[in-house]
Amino acid sequence: ISLKPFNTFGIDKKARFFIQATSENDILQALEKAKELNLPLIILGGGSNILLTKDLNAIVLKIEINGIQLVKETDEEVFVEVGAGENWHEFVLHCIKNEWAGVENLSLIPGTVGASPMQNIGAYGIEIKEVFHCLKAINRITGREEIFFWEDCRFGYRESVFKNDLKDQYIITKVEFKLKKKPTFHTEYGAIAHTLEEMNITELSIKSISDAVIKIRQSKLPDPKVIGNAGSFFKNPTISVDRFEKIKSNYPMVPGFPNDEGVKIPAAWLIEQSGWKGKTFGKIGVHKLQPLVLVNYGGGDGKEIAELSKQIQASIEEKFGILLHAEVNFL
Ligand code: EPU
Repeated sequence: ISLKPFNTFGIDKKARFFIQATSENDILQALEKAKELNLPLIILGGGSNILLTKDLNAIVLKIEINGIQLVKETDEEVFVEVGAGENWHEFVLHCIKNEWAGVENLSLIPGTVGASPMQNIGAYGIEIKEVFHCLKAINRITGREEIFFWEDCRFGYRESVFKNDLKDQYIITKVEFKLKKKPTFHTEYGAIAHTLEEMNITELSIKSISDAVIKIRQSKLPDPKVIGNAGSFFKNPTISVDRFEKIKSNYPMVPGFPNDEGVKIPAAWLIEQSGWKGKTFGKIGVHKLQPLVLVNYGGGDGKEIAELSKQIQASIEEKFGILLHAEVNFL
């Protein structure tokens, strides 16, 4: 079966077997089948953070466990359990409708709820670790469901234990979020304040922040339904203060955001300075508004995109001595 409809890059590669799981039981059956056929089992959410570089001699399991359930409520908070297969943005809209605050800054991020803790999705000043309570996941070896609380997940910038020590060992089935009844608005991110003003919004609400975020994203990020892409292709690197100062002596305008480990520098800036912004190579290229996003204009090949990403990495390493790390997972 072609995986083209199941990855936002729109790459036309095949899977040997494709199974949709709407329940925990379906997952157990898929695990059995993988053992029986001695094939790897690859888990797919929204397919919005993967690059297919070849046909997969594997069972691809698409998680479609649905449901949004209010499990507990206090004076200030609600605890909401969400099926891993729910679409992330639909969940955000559901929260806004119910006036549950905390995820409005994460509007319009492609992908599923189950994939959100894997890489601690984030945007416009918020990461999901700030609203995450716990998750349920099936242990691939024992077939048992286990609970992971906040500390267990070891969240970092676009990181969690599920991408590191526990990689390929669990299948996330449900995620529970802790949301606020009374919102704390996060408008620190320059573009949000600016956009709210542009939209003539004077009264803040989670809805207005969501609207502003949607507007920003639509203005510079390509819609995967129109142009294939997987969002940011690389992570923003953190470099030492020393290296940052050195770059600054040559490029006084270099943007930088100090953190505990040094200075975080936008990969988009590095890519633009290296001359890649808006470049097209046949059917693929570097997006013209947000160079951190690699795109497939239609019919592009995953291998070529992987190749392009390596060339970008090499040129930035040569020019700035910084190695960019991919944010997208290669399959
Ligand atoms: N920039 C340039 N040239 C450009 C565009 C941006 O130099 O053409 C520089 C500017 O200095 C700008 C800075 O990059 O201020 C930051 O740009 P932007 O606000 O677009 O954010 P980003 O750092 O490029 C990150 C996330 C996005 C997230 C946005 C907003 C990563 C890898 N990416 O991008 O997440 O939406 O911030 O919070 O951290 C994703 O992970 O797929 C994703 C889209």
